[in-house]
Amino acid sequence: MKRLRVGLLGCGNVGAGLVALLGEQRAVIAARTGIELEISRIAVRSASKDRGLPMAPSVFCDSAADVVTDPEIDVVVEVIGGIEPARTLLRQAIDAKKPVVTANKELLANHGAELFGAADEVGVDLLFEAAVAGAIPLIRPLRESLAAEPLQRIMGIVNGTTNYILTQMSEHGAGFDEALSEAQSLGYAESDPSADVEGFDAAAKAAIIATVAFGVEVVAGDVYHEGITRITPHDIEMARRLGFTVKAVAVAERATVIDSDDPGLPEVAVRVHPAMVPLQHPLAGVRDSFNAVFVQGDAVGELMFYGRGAGGRPTAGAVLGDLVDAAVNLSSGASGRIGRLAPARIRSIDDLRTAYYLSLEVADKPGVLASVAAVFGRHGVSIRSMQQHGLGDDARLVFITHQCRERDLRATQRDLSGLREVHELGNVIRVIGEESRPR
Ligand code: NDP
Ligand code: HSE
Repeated sequence: MKRLRVGLLGCGNVGAGLVALLGEQRAVIAARTGIELEISRIAVRSASKDRGLPMAPSVFCDSAADVVTDPEIDVVVEVIGGIEPARTLLRQAIDAKKPVVTANKELLANHGAELFGAADEVGVDLLFEAAVAGAIPLIRPLRESLAAEPLQRIMGIVNGTTNYILTQMSEHGAGFDEALSEAQSLGYAESDPSADVEGFDAAAKAAIIATVAFGVEVVAGDVYHEGITRITPHDIEMARRLGFTVKAVAVAERATVIDSDDPGLPEVAVRVHPAMVPLQHPLAGVRDSFNAVFVQGDAVGELMFYGRGAGGRPTAGAVLGDLVDAAVNLSSGASGRIGRLAPARIRSIDDLRTAYYLSLEVADKPGVLASVAAVFGRHGVSIRSMQQHGLGDDARLVFITHQCRERDLRATQRDLSGLREVHELGNVIRVIGEESRPR
């Protein structure tokens, strides 16, 4: 029986979940792989804190660098989060030829190319299944099973916290703040939850998805993102009346089919935003902290991945899977390489074509609807449906458009806000199921 010593960096929601899960599964893993995995050192911020874990106090320390450079440590698992010191620690581990497992999407979405390149160069594993969509096996299928598939589009719900909040608001009439604190206490949210609710976390995941799926270098800053903080109970109620539900979605797509005879620069469009999802769409049924991702390929058609997108124990399951993989590879002298990443052109959100929901508070007077409709017409935005709710000064017009270009919708929005009859311009929300791929 081979014994591999694991250095664990971070022991919060995910790290503590990993300690517990490995304790339960150690014998099964050993029987299957012939490798005994032992977490021999754990670095945390406060080493003296009682974590209620079955580990000797001497295992804990407050210097992650000491754990990484300890010659007794064979494999490093990083579940601290954030860019630094995680980036430096992972570089140290890789340079010392130690395989690394991480759940850190923020780091990979900003410095992935550097770290993947370093790992490839020395031939060690850098595995990150848990970084995208928690427990769902998505990275390995994209990277291995679908390696030869000309993937076109990946769309899904990739943030558990925001999906939990939107579910609580839609189904239980919960307030935003109340639902967010529940998500925090359930261990779903990032240490700074604005990463979740402002869309940064989903943007990082979308960048990683695009990188792995299309083999191009996409960083977090390339991803257009909007959070869910401006979604109101009114939007949620309107969505329900119109046959939709509001979800936060991530979309990564190729703007052009890459012709192998003429490689050119691949063009990709990657975005994260709230969306009106038709109630009959499979994403509409994805509730609470669950995530789901649709992968659309040329040969395979459409695939759907579904599961727990957040939470200590489910995420630890994905980390442990990577850890077993890294251990097996280490003992057999192999490593899973991410491969060469090509540069990509990023398609502007202005060029997106989709349908939109928008609502306006207007004066309920003759001629108002005609003035409003004229603005849509002037910018070539065709109205698919319109409803009026309320009367008098409280009248609200709710529109769903046909597909149009984002820049035309923005121009419409700008001109509507200048109309005297429009008292307030509500949210504009893209409608899923009506969008076309960029050409
Ligand atoms: P937590 O905030 O719960 O835990 C972070 C841990 O890191 C804590 O144990 C903390 O120590 C430790 N830590 C912080 N700074 C340092 C440092 N400088 N040196 C050593 N240890 C340090 O985070 P999570 O477990 O929720 O998340 C960890 C990672 O996993 C993040 O990258 C996150 O994005 C990712 N992730 C999280 C998921 C989830 O559902 N929670 C799902 C998927 C990915 P101390 O305990 O002493 O404060
Ligand atoms: N905060 C993240 C989420 C954790 O809610 O999805 C999983 O990556």
